[in-house]
Amino acid sequence: MNRKTFLATLGTGALSVGATRMPSAESTPPAAAPAAAPASTPAPGLTSLISLADIERRGREVMASSTLAFVSGGAADELTVGWNQDKYREIRLQQRVLRDVGDLDPSTTLFGQRLNHPIIIAPTANHRVVHPEGELATARGANAAGAIMVLSSGANTAVEDVAKVVEQPLWFQLYVAKDRGLAKALIQRVEAAGARGLCVTVDSPLDGARDRQARDPVKLPPGVGHPHYVGITEPPVVVNLDVVKPQVLLWRDIEWIRSLTTMPLMLKGVMSPADAEIGVKLGADGIIVSNHGGRCLDTQPATIEALPRVVDRVAGRVPVIVDGGIRRGTDVVKALAHGAAAVQIGRPCLYGLAVGGAEGVAHTVKVLRQELLMAMALLGCRTLRDITRDVLWSE
Ligand SMILES: Cc1cc2nc3c(=O)[nH]c(=O)nc-3n(C[C@H](O)[C@H](O)[C@H](O)COP(=O)(O)O)c2cc1C
Repeated sequence: MNRKTFLATLGTGALSVGATRMPSAESTPPAAAPAAAPASTPAPGLTSLISLADIERRGREVMASSTLAFVSGGAADELTVGWNQDKYREIRLQQRVLRDVGDLDPSTTLFGQRLNHPIIIAPTANHRVVHPEGELATARGANAAGAIMVLSSGANTAVEDVAKVVEQPLWFQLYVAKDRGLAKALIQRVEAAGARGLCVTVDSPLDGARDRQARDPVKLPPGVGHPHYVGITEPPVVVNLDVVKPQVLLWRDIEWIRSLTTMPLMLKGVMSPADAEIGVKLGADGIIVSNHGGRCLDTQPATIEALPRVVDRVAGRVPVIVDGGIRRGTDVVKALAHGAAAVQIGRPCLYGLAVGGAEGVAHTVKVLRQELLMAMALLGCRTLRDITRDVLWSE
């Protein structure tokens, strides 16, 4: 099958495309700030957006400057943001030929849950800043693309409402409130709402030095808030050290969270094999290698550099997922070849959301999925199990 045929199979689905774009704001003030009037930009034909880079370019055009600073920005000099992508480009692949790839199968299973493909929508906050339909549009886009969505604690839409829309298993990303009673209540709430996975983000006792966001702060549209921060008075992620101390989340809290839920428990934001080891020993069901998309500690390495070390240490005891800088199907292959069970994408979905609401999110995931299939075919890999370190070029 050639690229044209592959792309023709993408389809656009029958989802409605949002007509308006909100200006924009992961770390936001807890209260809604007044927003400028939304810029009305008609969504272009998504089919002309062939790659995730195309979608990003278009997304950058339609976003308000503060939204763009929120979505594309990272910490400090944004070196880690760049490395996350650059390091994938440095990895070369070893093609194999004349293998039977007539029946490509990108599906997999995690925690007993079947995934149509290994591309998961990473948790990102404030979707209603990016698009008026916010997380509900993302959920519909996830459905159309057959993807698991991870709902952020910092979402503008309640887990109960998203759970009603999603067709794939819904996972929830947890920021642990200082008030552990509130944290417990939120865990119980998301489990009752039907969430099938809990990703506890462990890499951000505070935000990094997000200079771009500090210069052009995110703006929540009027009436838009954070329905999972009920009763929380301190900002969920802390910027100003003069005013509030960093959040304190300790390994013993992970043991405590483990005791509270039967949902699969993943630790998101692990870059060190030693931390992965502790997490697994404390009962984590999965490890997510992530540097928060370069938004917290600048100058730490790319996640694809940390991944093989963590995978080697975890040694198959639990699945390892990775995110950060994945923009091509070949990047997905490289992550899987380094031992990831699945990948997550963050910013690409937000650009898709900005460009075309639900349809834009669906298109983004579908483009990446189709590129994954192309790469599998060209590498002679029929299933994800066939993607081993053998597909990596070695000197
Ligand atoms: C705008 C934005 C908001 C984010 N919000 C959250 C969040 O609320 N919780 C979280 O654990 N990670 C959050 N992240 C990090 C993502 O889950 C993910 O680790 C990262 O985006 C992956 O890198 P990528 O954007 O290069 O794909 C956010 C990332 C972005 C870009």
